[in-house]
Amino acid sequence: MSDDLFYDETHIAFLEEMWGEGFLSPGGPEELNRILDGLDLTGKTIVDIGCGTGGVAVRLARDYGAARVIGLDVEAPVCAHARRRADQAGVSDRVEIRQVEPGPMPLENGSVDIVFSKDSIVHIPDKETLSADAFRVLRSGGCFAASDWLISHDGDPSPEMADYIRKEDLGFGMASPGRYRKALEGAGFLNVALTNRNPWYKTIAPKELARLRGEDRARFESALGVDGVAHMADLWESMIRVLDSGEHCPHHFRAWKP
Ligand SMILES: C[S@@+](CC[C@H](N)C(=O)[O-])C[C@H]1O[C@@H](n2cnc3c(N)ncnc32)[C@H](O)[C@@H]1O
Repeated sequence: MSDDLFYDETHIAFLEEMWGEGFLSPGGPEELNRILDGLDLTGKTIVDIGCGTGGVAVRLARDYGAARVIGLDVEAPVCAHARRRADQAGVSDRVEIRQVEPGPMPLENGSVDIVFSKDSIVHIPDKETLSADAFRVLRSGGCFAASDWLISHDGDPSPEMADYIRKEDLGFGMASPGRYRKALEGAGFLNVALTNRNPWYKTIAPKELARLRGEDRARFESALGVDGVAHMADLWESMIRVLDSGEHCPHHFRAWKP
């Protein structure tokens, strides 16, 4: 396991200040609701890929009636937060958090009803292998429901996008909607649906930047320090540029195993 943490305690404190307790990605419980729109999770077994600090895993068990949630993540600090959160919410009998190595999920073939992920697959560059693994662990009739951060095309990132990716330190994990669709269909999924969330997030990100620079600056500085907040404000400016151009396009997607 690498000691080179991306989501260390400082980063966790900053992101939860920005996006809410238990959330390391935007939109909170409302966005979770939209990703899951129309799915009945009662009694279901769900795996949450990249569970972070556990806000989603706890809600799936407590609010959506899941029988069992397996949260997988590669970093120890977020797993520790997620376990504590599940304990405090009284759902640790139904929420199991496992720290894993990147790679195939440590789950039996056909053993889960829903594969879920919120804004974590961006860290997994090989969308084809990931799609095949999600297909493998799902039972027949199961669903892959997720959100992720995408780039709008398959070419080289524009200079503005390259600047944003460099500041965000996202590496080469971003892929296009076309690549996701091909990866999911290639794995055997049917009824693949992708929804572009750029129109939503591009209205939210400027408000986040305003919080960083204004009303909540002191709170962010207590997590990150003055220089850290200045870096984040610069990163947010770069992100807003590529949200405005449409090149950075978070998506929801859903796909069904026949
Ligand atoms: C942006 S955070 C999102 C966390 C959570 N889903 C949320 O929305 O709050 C991305 C998460 O993906 C995890 N991650 C990175 N690479 C991973 C991998 N190969 N497998 C599983 N999780 C991974 C990170 O450690 C981090 O917790």
